[in-house]
Amino acid sequence: MKTQPQKDRIIIFDTTLRDGEQCPGATLNVDEKLVIARQLARLGVDVIEAGFPFASPGDFEAVSRIAQIVGTEEGPIICGLARSTRPDIQAAAEALKPAAHGRIHTFIATSDIHLQYKLKKTREEVLAIAGDMVAYAKSLIDDVEFSPEDAGRSDPEFLYQVLERAIAAGATTINIPDTVGYTTPAEFGALIRGIAEHVPNVDQAVISVHGHNDLGLAVANFLEAVKYGARQLECTINGIGERAGNAALEELVMALHVRRQYYNPFLGRPVDSEAPLTRIDTRQIYKTSRLVSNLTGLLVQPNKAIVGANAFAHESGIHQDGVLKHKLTYEIMDAQSIGLTDNQIVLGKHSGRNAFRTRLKELGFELSEQDLNKAFLRFKELADKKKEISDWDLEAIVNDEIQQA
Ligand code: KIV
Ligand code: ZN
Repeated sequence: MKTQPQKDRIIIFDTTLRDGEQCPGATLNVDEKLVIARQLARLGVDVIEAGFPFASPGDFEAVSRIAQIVGTEEGPIICGLARSTRPDIQAAAEALKPAAHGRIHTFIATSDIHLQYKLKKTREEVLAIAGDMVAYAKSLIDDVEFSPEDAGRSDPEFLYQVLERAIAAGATTINIPDTVGYTTPAEFGALIRGIAEHVPNVDQAVISVHGHNDLGLAVANFLEAVKYGARQLECTINGIGERAGNAALEELVMALHVRRQYYNPFLGRPVDSEAPLTRIDTRQIYKTSRLVSNLTGLLVQPNKAIVGANAFAHESGIHQDGVLKHKLTYEIMDAQSIGLTDNQIVLGKHSGRNAFRTRLKELGFELSEQDLNKAFLRFKELADKKKEISDWDLEAIVNDEIQQA
């Protein structure tokens, strides 16, 4: 059954269309959400959190259409978010009806800060609501995920009780959010280990993690969590999301891909197993990143890991010389593995003779050593004045300096 996956594989739960869309200025209309959902299905995510149906009629429609069109029998699980209230849960169940595999994701905060200032409820009340609302969701749909919001700042003993209650009420996924991106990798790993050890019925559910990037630690926290039993990672394309964003899907997936031998034993696999740890088709990553950036209008910073414009670009002469001799010298993954055609050698003031000669050759210029030296001097002079030297510049240098000599 789709809702009970193997425990030696990592489930990728994409929340670009829900938490990602909560990023200021990133609002998407129904058609745009559908286009992204289709691409997420091609990317191979296991779960698409398509929206928050109670939040607006538009979001209800988006979840419903994605459920109908993308949530086919072979397609991903389609998920809708709901606070722990009956109207929210009802709306989610209604919107998810067309999906072959639907999931309600319901949440309530468990930290004392949230209980005191936001919910104005006691721990006992929250415990009862969590159990009741998971049971209610379960009466409407088979696949229920429960999140104790702000788990990262909750008292672990209380957290264990809430999680036990949610699982007993029918939650098949328990998601542990670091809602405000406060925890460090060691703390987050210890939190997951504590849950795996102290929640008596934890074996009846998949442990999931959800985290924000306020301190830039979300991906590191998740990777630590995997070591202690987390098997579902909630993430977004390009790491977009509330405030500083969510854990970035592309970073998590490529970390698990590039370092699979390191993570295999934590998933109970032999160290030398080369089997992928997720179902993601990594060659779709770049395309998905561009699509999300274009439709949300959120630009990707050039030095962003995996999908930034510079992630596979080399500028310095030493690095260029290295990768031209063998890519492994300065690359830990192939540009092709995320769907790019190749890495990029950028010619600038730090570039060396080898990269210069190689690019000229690609442009059809085979120069004598003497001509190459002259052209290289001109190139360096120009590079001191310009950030990047284009192919036009190179052609001008060669035509002007060499061929007329
Ligand atoms: O950050 C958070 O706590 C959330 C929950 C709704 C899972 O997004
Ligand atoms: Zn969140």
